Amino acid sequence: MTERIKKKAEEIETWNFVFPNQSNPYGNMFGGELLAIMDTTAAMAAIRYAEKTVSTASVERVIFKKPIFVGDRIKTVAKVVLVGRTSMMVRTDVFVDKGGAEGDVLSTTAHFTLVAFDEERVPSEVPELIIETDKEKKQSELAQQIKDHVGRREVRIKEVVEKWK
Ligand SMILES: CC(C)(COP(=O)(O)OP(=O)(O)OC[C@H]1O[C@@H](n2cnc3c(N)ncnc32)[C@H](O)[C@@H]1OP(=O)(O)O)[C@@H](O)C(=O)NCCC(=O)NCCS
Repeated sequence: MTERIKKKAEEIETWNFVFPNQSNPYGNMFGGELLAIMDTTAAMAAIRYAEKTVSTASVERVIFKKPIFVGDRIKTVAKVVLVGRTSMMVRTDVFVDKGGAEGDVLSTTAHFTLVAFDEERVPSEVPELIIETDKEKKQSELAQQIKDHVGRREVRIKEVVEKWK
């Protein structure tokens, strides 16, 4: 058996200007438009990490904390924070660039799970994640808690579905 390679994850950053066609009539950016930007940035981070093609399997704990408006400049930051055998959890944060003293204001956070594939689109092993800094440790622990919680929720949902069949 070949030894699994170990790797550090890099942070991927994308910038966008919010246009009127991405908002509701009151000038507030649509959540779905924002999720598309977040999903794309998360995919970039996962592809760079796995060096393979990927697909999004799920999105967890999307928190729209602060609104985003037309004309805002948004910075989306994505990084692989937890890996399984073929899946990667990518923490994705969106900041509004307010400039000046206010700087970057955190607007939205979500955890995307992406799966890496081989040439036949079969789930394929990703490198083992090297975790070094306190921030990386914290982010990885949070991702693990979310993953565990999702696992428990899935079991519960299956039980409820069985009951009502
Ligand atoms: C994601 C997908 C490949 C998983 O297929 P599968 O048959 O369940 O594959 P496996 O059982 O081999 O699981 C592969 C990995 O995906 C993970 N996975 C599967 N479904 C998942 C889900 N809903 N959420 C999180 N992780 C999931 C498994 O835990 C496993 O991870 P691991 O290897 O790190 O332990 C498949 O469901 C798929 O192709 N979905 C459509 C993806 C897509 O089109 N995305 C774009 C939508 S916008």
